[in-house]
Amino acid sequence: MTLNNDEDLERLKEIGRICANTIQIMAAALEPGITTAELDAIGRKVLEDAGARSAPELSYNFPGATCISVNEEVAHGIPGPRIIQAGDLVNIDVSAEKNGLFADTGSSFAVPPVKPQIERLCRDGKRAMWVGLNEVKAGKPLASIGNAIGSFARKNRYTLITNLASHGVGRSLHEEPTEIATWPDKHEKRRMTEGMVFTVEPFLSLGAQWAEGGDDEWTLYSEPRAMTVQYEHTVIVTRSGPLVVTLPG
Ligand code: CO
Ligand code: CO
Repeated sequence: MTLNNDEDLERLKEIGRICANTIQIMAAALEPGITTAELDAIGRKVLEDAGARSAPELSYNFPGATCISVNEEVAHGIPGPRIIQAGDLVNIDVSAEKNGLFADTGSSFAVPPVKPQIERLCRDGKRAMWVGLNEVKAGKPLASIGNAIGSFARKNRYTLITNLASHGVGRSLHEEPTEIATWPDKHEKRRMTEGMVFTVEPFLSLGAQWAEGGDDEWTLYSEPRAMTVQYEHTVIVTRSGPLVVTLPG
């Protein structure tokens, strides 16, 4: 969407904060022995208590309030009986709606003890997201986000998943300006305009280049199989730069 009034700005900030707080509370409960269904139930309660509704459930009938993806799963993992183990790499993605506005945020967490290579992947995944976010400014080409993330990944010898894009968000979970590549895309000619709302969510990996479907209709797996992280914020384009709305508060 493109924001054009203060009421919507406040509503977007509110749902952004709710999504961010939900991830934080879920992350605090993440430890060996908990199932992904139990983790999801914690997230559902935080959303409900805040008067928000799960966006994947509302928009796509996703079988869970949040997406929880473990190790070989890169995205859209279904909460269930899987038990979290020490050393697991867990991605939690929370998107939700309140008062007609949607926000979307995600984060990967490594459950201790963490191998140095995975610790580095998590740190650099966050950096890759911020490298992209820092390109956000009214008037700049949309492609500058993917170009900057692509250079970062190449320089630090990572791969990027190139079939899971960032996207417009706001009035619905996925909307205008539709898909935005978080990798270099020479066909991208659009520019960022003031008030535009979208996500920045690179998938940084130790070797994967694609996300592929498996046995169920939701879970996506890394291809070739390799540890992958995703960090995601919802951002508003302003004339002075990025205004990130999915920060905890
Ligand atoms: Co998300
Ligand atoms: Co998203």
